[in-house]
Amino acid sequence: MSAIPQHIAIIMDGNGRWAQQRGLPRAMGHRAGTENIRRIVQEAKALGVRYLTLYAFSTENWNRPGPEVRALMAILGEFIDRETAALHAEGVQIRHLGSLDGLSPQLQAKVRYALELTRHNTALVLAVAFNYGGRADIVQAVRAIVREGIPPEAITEAVIADHLYTRGMPDPDLIVRTAGEFRLSNFLIWQAAYAEYYSTPVFWPDFGPEDLKQAVAAYGQRERRFGALPQAARQ
Ligand code: IPE
Ligand code: IPE
Ligand code: MG
Repeated sequence: MSAIPQHIAIIMDGNGRWAQQRGLPRAMGHRAGTENIRRIVQEAKALGVRYLTLYAFSTENWNRPGPEVRALMAILGEFIDRETAALHAEGVQIRHLGSLDGLSPQLQAKVRYALELTRHNTALVLAVAFNYGGRADIVQAVRAIVREGIPPEAITEAVIADHLYTRGMPDPDLIVRTAGEFRLSNFLIWQAAYAEYYSTPVFWPDFGPEDLKQAVAAYGQRERRFGALPQAARQ
């Protein structure tokens, strides 16, 4: 059996193009994309993945037109209302990566409710990166470290990792991006240092369990060296 990544992080891209292809408004693409989450969570769990991180809204996505931003906010609220009970029943722990600043008080309350309800679950951690940016993540970590008065010589990679939004989570082993792009777009830039990358042309709303299996199979073929020599060259 080939290796299963412990932590998969997905850049859910292509909702807009999916809608455009069908002559639908972009928000419909975001809705379809969000409805896709349930089956991907289930497949990840079935494969034995322990952490699934989904990039849902970046700090740069505030630059989109107001109506699209508002639609994305509304869709997050609908997702929490619709899916939290089922995710909880399946033993999924929901985490939020990013800042709640800028979200309406009602939406912040929904997020807090979902985190609190599921905090002791252990079957799978579903981390939703919403209002998340890798650089903003590092900035908030540095601020926390300074606020705590940690002296410069005590700052290690582990100390920084412990102050990032992902604290307590292993680094992603596999980063999947849909819709054919080859960039991180400010996603987990610290945590992705040794992730394997996988890009597929499939738009996120069409990315199904079989596509996830393919990504995991591709990961199983990779040799992770972490700077050391390839297995075949070791003595
Ligand atoms: C990804 O889909 C979802 C978000 C970034 C919120 P896009 O909306 O970026 O879809 P494309 O890239 O325009 O097709
Ligand atoms: C990245 O997708 C952010 C999310 C998937 C949430 P974008 O579509 O916003 O990224 P760019 O603009 O193509 O880099
Ligand atoms: Mg995009």
